[in-house]
Amino acid sequence: MRVAVLTGAGISAESGLRTFRASDGLWEDHRIEEVATPEGFARDPDLVHRFYNQRRKDAAAALPNDAHRALAELARHVDLTLITQNVDDLHERGGSDRLIHMHGALTGALCAACGHRWPAPMVMTTGDPCPACTKQATRPDIVWFNEMPYRMEEIWEAVAKADVFAAIGTSGQVYPAAGLAQHAGRCGARTIELNLATSAVSRDFDERHEGPASRIVPDWVGSLIAAQQR
Ligand code: APR
Repeated sequence: MRVAVLTGAGISAESGLRTFRASDGLWEDHRIEEVATPEGFARDPDLVHRFYNQRRKDAAAALPNDAHRALAELARHVDLTLITQNVDDLHERGGSDRLIHMHGALTGALCAACGHRWPAPMVMTTGDPCPACTKQATRPDIVWFNEMPYRMEEIWEAVAKADVFAAIGTSGQVYPAAGLAQHAGRCGARTIELNLATSAVSRDFDERHEGPASRIVPDWVGSLIAAQQR
């Protein structure tokens, strides 16, 4: 069985990491255009580094939860393509060793001058020189608004081939991620949404499971593995 799973901030909420659009979300006290666009970085790189340094610190202090671990277990039973919009490393620390960070990762640094990538320091500052070209153009390796998400060809292809597509903990408000369920359904997959509430794209799914990810994801994974073994 080929399974494609897309995760969003909701899968890390019970690990203590803030989501974006809840009442206490990150976008309630940060302006997207200031901290999550190339223009914002050009205007005030120190502000952007402070924002991501805090998120890198929060992610390092967080622990994966049963939802992250359940997806790592699922990969041992099916042909799983795990796609995440999240930039934390809780999937990796929960045992997933193959995944696509379509919006980049807090653990990555990128040189805006030459494109070189290297492991990010916990605290990144504007003056950090690039290890390759030595220019002081270091930025977080995060995909900002108006930038193209990573590995989209691979993602479209995996979703098109999937027998089952599940979206976990995402509000369905940011494309192209929000369009993956429709793409999966059109290509014949069974589509499943696992979320605490309805999302902007709930109508795109054949099936919905409502509740906290740390409970409903292990339950869903268990049923999928059992179905696979029958
Ligand atoms: N269990 C399951 N789902 C949850 C939980 C939980 N414990 N807590 C919250 N959720 C759900 C919410 O109902 C919501 O649908 O997680 C979703 C979080 O939505 P957003 O905050 O919009 O996060 P996300 O969908 O990942 O945002 C997508 O937007 O800001 C950009 O690049 C950023 O990757 C991010 C993208």
